[in-house]
Amino acid sequence: MEAPVAERLKRAGCAVYVSKWPICRLPVILTLGLLLTTCATDPRGTSIPSVLDPRGPEANSIALLWWVMLVLGAIVLAIVGGILIYIAARGRGPARNSSEGLIDEDSGQRWIWLGGVILPLILLPIAFGFNLSSLATISNPSQAAVTIEVTGHRWWWEVRYPEEDVVTANEIHIPVGQPVQLQLASADVIHSFWVPQLHGKIDMVPGEVNSLRLQADDAGEYRGICAEFCGAQHARMQFILVASTPEDFEAWLASQRQPAPEPESEVIRRGQQVFLGSACVYCHTIRGTNASGEVGPDLTHLGNRRTLAAGTLPNTRGNLAGWILGPQHIKPGNLMPPTHLPSEDLIPLLEYLDTLD
Ligand code: CUA
Repeated sequence: MEAPVAERLKRAGCAVYVSKWPICRLPVILTLGLLLTTCATDPRGTSIPSVLDPRGPEANSIALLWWVMLVLGAIVLAIVGGILIYIAARGRGPARNSSEGLIDEDSGQRWIWLGGVILPLILLPIAFGFNLSSLATISNPSQAAVTIEVTGHRWWWEVRYPEEDVVTANEIHIPVGQPVQLQLASADVIHSFWVPQLHGKIDMVPGEVNSLRLQADDAGEYRGICAEFCGAQHARMQFILVASTPEDFEAWLASQRQPAPEPESEVIRRGQQVFLGSACVYCHTIRGTNASGEVGPDLTHLGNRRTLAAGTLPNTRGNLAGWILGPQHIKPGNLMPPTHLPSEDLIPLLEYLDTLD
């Protein structure tokens, strides 16, 4: 940078800009860091959700609106920032005492008309037009292929397919390329349903049912999160939305409609007895058995799910054992009490839960 300009900027109060201290680089590093987070993949295998990686018509429309607002905001920032720097540089420079200063009364009026009236009259209708177009897209009234009821609990997701008599948890399966209707409710406090790559977020309010229609154009697994602070384990209230071909989706529905299989060996029968003889039955349902509790997730097809405790842990036998013995160590404050089982009960129980596929 040329010394006189640097000197003028410094005198105009732009010391940060010309400083040699790393603080100048901080905004650049933060911005790059934020952009790079969209490239990551988390241990569950799903990509880190980003609204800038849209995979459906509603999300495309929201992402387009985001970019339009960013460009319009950048234009305004460039104009206002450019004028400020120009004034600062000129006002402090050789023309400082000249009678031809930048801001005389006439040009002051011109700037007010330009910046206060003409610029907003050009930019705001553009933003408004894109907003209307985005609203029309996300309130698409076309016929939904399937209706899914999702209820937020502290801190997990109950998922029901009312027309199919299917209940599951923390995982939502949909057919790819078809609109699906979500009916969103809450069993306790306000949660917020958000799959950033597929749609905007929408609150789940106790006593209300909110609707959301979304569509995934690409098959795959999408991460969903609770986007409203709902207590200590809000960050561990996640789900996976699986978009698969209509044939695979129908096959998944058919398997989920089945009750749990009957135990086929002595160990598994023993495991089932442990489950049915413990406090598990007061909170969990396993269809095909006497367990019909409704406080916690339905476990009929537990083995089919990718994660435990709403995205907290990968669904492995070791994690399941840890979760049964010490759920309060893993997710403090959740409603599941520890189950103190000797290993001669725990191992058959794990064998039995393994068969719930
Ligand atoms: Cu539920 Cu945050």
